[in-house]
Amino acid sequence: MGQPRADVPAPIDPTTTAAWARLGELAARYRSDDGTWTTTLTGLFTEPDRVEAHTHPAGDLHVDLSKNLVDAGVLAELVALAREVGLEGHRDAMFAGERINVTEDRAVLHTALRLPRDAELHVDGQDVVADVHEVLDRVYAFATQVRTGAWRGFSGERIRTVVNIGIGGSDLGPVMAYEALTPYVDDALTCRFISNVDPTDAAQTLAGLDPASTLFIVSSKTFTTLETLTNARLSRTWLLDGLREAGVLGADDGDDSPAAREAVARHFVAVSTALDKVADFGIDPANAFGFWDWVGGRYSLDSAIGTSLAIAVGPERFAELLDGFHTMDEHFRTAPLPQNVPALMGLLNVWYVNFLGAHTHAVLPYAQSLHRFPAYLQQLTMESNGKGVRWDGASVRTDTGEVFWGEPGTNGQHAFYQLLHQGTRIVPADFIAFVNPAHPLRDGETDVHELLLANFLAQTRALAFGKSAEEVRAEGTAEAVVAARVFPGNRPTTSILAPALTPAVLGQLIALYEHITFTQGVVWGIDSFDQWGVELGKQLAKQIAPALSGDDSVLDAQDPSTQSLVRYYREHRER
Ligand code: F6P
Repeated sequence: MGQPRADVPAPIDPTTTAAWARLGELAARYRSDDGTWTTTLTGLFTEPDRVEAHTHPAGDLHVDLSKNLVDAGVLAELVALAREVGLEGHRDAMFAGERINVTEDRAVLHTALRLPRDAELHVDGQDVVADVHEVLDRVYAFATQVRTGAWRGFSGERIRTVVNIGIGGSDLGPVMAYEALTPYVDDALTCRFISNVDPTDAAQTLAGLDPASTLFIVSSKTFTTLETLTNARLSRTWLLDGLREAGVLGADDGDDSPAAREAVARHFVAVSTALDKVADFGIDPANAFGFWDWVGGRYSLDSAIGTSLAIAVGPERFAELLDGFHTMDEHFRTAPLPQNVPALMGLLNVWYVNFLGAHTHAVLPYAQSLHRFPAYLQQLTMESNGKGVRWDGASVRTDTGEVFWGEPGTNGQHAFYQLLHQGTRIVPADFIAFVNPAHPLRDGETDVHELLLANFLAQTRALAFGKSAEEVRAEGTAEAVVAARVFPGNRPTTSILAPALTPAVLGQLIALYEHITFTQGVVWGIDSFDQWGVELGKQLAKQIAPALSGDDSVLDAQDPSTQSLVRYYREHRER
């Protein structure tokens, strides 16, 4: 890990900018001190051409921002804020490979992972684009070998199941994208994912699999992560035991025998920046795919961390995904701020968090295939912007990272939308849908996808414009329950539509949220690319583990609550 940089100028405190002061004044026109909305979406929609003015293309995405609680004046101030804090300069520094990850003294170059082959980008004298494509070519060649059956298991069986072992960014991206692109997955292949150190995860994921046709990809940037290394060892034992049981390995072929080592080499590959540690684990470095410290874990799906996906959907589709990322990168890099969708969405989030009191942000895909997208975004946004210290070490003077959460529609409608419609809190929400479904099923005369889209449209409309007491009464509702049936409206949403959930569109969507996250981080002056907040728990878990297995000296060193919990555990342990 690099040392923190000392030579970086302090961020501009957003609260000291002229735009911040003006936004504060404008916010007062939106909401009075008692929480009543004094500017409403119904009122804002009397503006001529509001929808046209607030709808923008970004790659294949059609992004309608019109149902957000803003007018042209607020947007102009948000753009002014972005300029005052130097968003464009920071963006350019990121794309140029400057070491903007200050606390780790690293460049932040996930955007280089999707640069076309003929591009060049030199960092410390090295053309990183050439490096990226060298690894990509190896990943593609390996994926092709597995897909064609040229790569086989130890007994000569074709690989039918690929199990990715990883956690955080080494899991959430691969699993989310695999689920999203299921229609593109080769019929002869299935991917599964093990992440949690809860042994139930490995046990259930491996249940029913045939070791002879299973390939493991151990994915870990650092190759030190407790969960991943534990699951990799469990899987290696499962493989060797299974091959022995099937008679593929002899009963006396121990785990270190040449035959067992050869079996591991056929069934285990690795993805990491720490190739020396891969070899220590017993995986042949020839079967390892590298990446670089300038790729953050949560930004790594489009590196070799996506190897399981490249096998599942094939190199051509994976390349389309990368092109999609690049399309959005180019939009973010070149579009003027007033039409720059990631910048605008990031600035709107700042408006909601810092001026209108939002604590959370919902992401609601009207696409079952995106069911893991909110979970993926939780790491992207919250590990990036859940920070109270700026990149120069000073405390922030504003609220930062909101909680991102969500579920696919329409399931969410029957669960938590009650709060979105009638709760007391403002929850800005992004609605995502596609014109063409992967499975165009009909229920008699009804196009079922249109039922889904009707709900997508209905929800954003209901959230924005609500239903007044007069409308409720006009339905003949008893006066006693009129109030309970009123929908106040004025709940901000962004609608994102695209023709279909293709690999390219998925890449665009992910990059959109990467750059939204970046925009917010720059405004708040925080390093969106470190994650020191995950370290203490890891350290303490290592310290506490011996207390569970009986070490009283470790137990005595714990706080009283921890001691009591460990004692409960010891008393009830049946193993
Ligand atoms: O603990 C958090 C974290 O470091 C994430 O940032 C990362 O994606 C995850 O752990 C997994 O790390 P690795 O890929 O090094 O195993």
